[in-house]
Amino acid sequence: MRTPDVVIIGAGAAGMMCAMTAAARGRRVLLLDHANKAGKKILMSGGGRCNFTNMWAEPDNYQSGNPHFCKSALARYSPWDFVGLVAKHGVAYHEKKLGQLFCDGRSHDIRDLLLDECAQAGVELHLKTAVQRIERTDDGYRLRTDLGDVAAESVVIATGGLSIPTMGATGFGYEIARQFGHAVVEPRAGLVPFIITDALKELCTELSGTSVDAEVRCNGQSFRENVLFTHRGLSGPAILQISSFWRLGDAVEIDLLPGHDALAWLEERRATRPDSELRTVLSEVFTKRMAGLLTERWFPSKPMKQHTPAELRRIAERLGGWQVVPAGTEGYRTAEVTLGGVDTRDVSSQTMESRKSPGLYFIGEVLDVTGHLGGFNFQWAWASGYAAAQVV
Ligand code: FDA
Repeated sequence: MRTPDVVIIGAGAAGMMCAMTAAARGRRVLLLDHANKAGKKILMSGGGRCNFTNMWAEPDNYQSGNPHFCKSALARYSPWDFVGLVAKHGVAYHEKKLGQLFCDGRSHDIRDLLLDECAQAGVELHLKTAVQRIERTDDGYRLRTDLGDVAAESVVIATGGLSIPTMGATGFGYEIARQFGHAVVEPRAGLVPFIITDALKELCTELSGTSVDAEVRCNGQSFRENVLFTHRGLSGPAILQISSFWRLGDAVEIDLLPGHDALAWLEERRATRPDSELRTVLSEVFTKRMAGLLTERWFPSKPMKQHTPAELRRIAERLGGWQVVPAGTEGYRTAEVTLGGVDTRDVSSQTMESRKSPGLYFIGEVLDVTGHLGGFNFQWAWASGYAAAQVV
């Protein structure tokens, strides 16, 4: 029977960070994953370039039943700590926008540096290895695995959330949490495109591939970034961000003229370009195709001087506060994260240790801590993995 000090289940972002850090402390670490590769989500992240952290990561960038839970870990392992690791391995990176740091090369560089660190620290990694059972014993835990029985003082659950099942996502972490008496906040897909099925679907389909700068609002939250029309509905960073705050039945308000007073802008154009058609004026800010479709479907296109003040007000209201009621989201198939997860009430925010079962730890996305889009979810994986690694 193998008898490491620590067994970590899940060789994703959080699991690898925890493994390499604990092993560097001198702990004998066994890292298990049922997938055929470590860090599959790292490999597919950031469009292949891995947005590995965000320079401005703060607790406000996270959603959780307890918004204070993430504070301690985030303060003890900052984006700059991870940047130091990236620099140590000579991986070139850049800020794309809004503090988001991406590799210049490929996501593999980030996954490989974590694997290098694990190998150097002596982590024993086994892929294609499932865990059938975990039981508490007098001096720790006993696991039934594809490698045979394993006994260890500490067990770390780093199995992530439910998004992208084809990449190896499972509800295993939630099952183990329930087995040891933890509550699980109902998981749901986050950072996910919307599906539109009502009359707007045709507009979305016709504009598929078009992206516009917009401010998107729902349930007291707002994000200004691009909205992308797709043949199924709406996507793009602004939509992914707001999807994490949206519930079935809610309307989403989209300001297509962010940063402008829409009415003042239209009145100014009527004064300065009275003979221009509305469609021509709108193509100053939208693509010609979009300006054409909006005027075909929403507003009569006639010279600006022929629009009455009431008409201009209606146009401004529509452009500045377009109300959309999505039919749903694309779900876990394309969601970047899972909202909800292991309730943080019974987990130590200092060490990620279970308060129900000493020696059991939960790190990364399996916990009810979810970041906004932009490198925040990896930062949580690094920080929570590092926090647990100090004590496992
Ligand atoms: P992660 O999901 O990374 O790892 C869990 C591991 O556990 C997997 O290796 C899995 O195989 C294994 N596992 C699951 N069940 C198991 C079981 N029963 N037995 C054994 N092993 C099991 N975030 C960000 O900050 N920047 C970005 O650019 C992106 N981009 C991005 C793109 C896409 C397409 C997705 C889907 C997600 C992102 N994310 C992201 C989110 C980010 O990938 C995610 O939050 C982290 O990978 C979470 O890290 P964890 O280690 O917690 O789980």
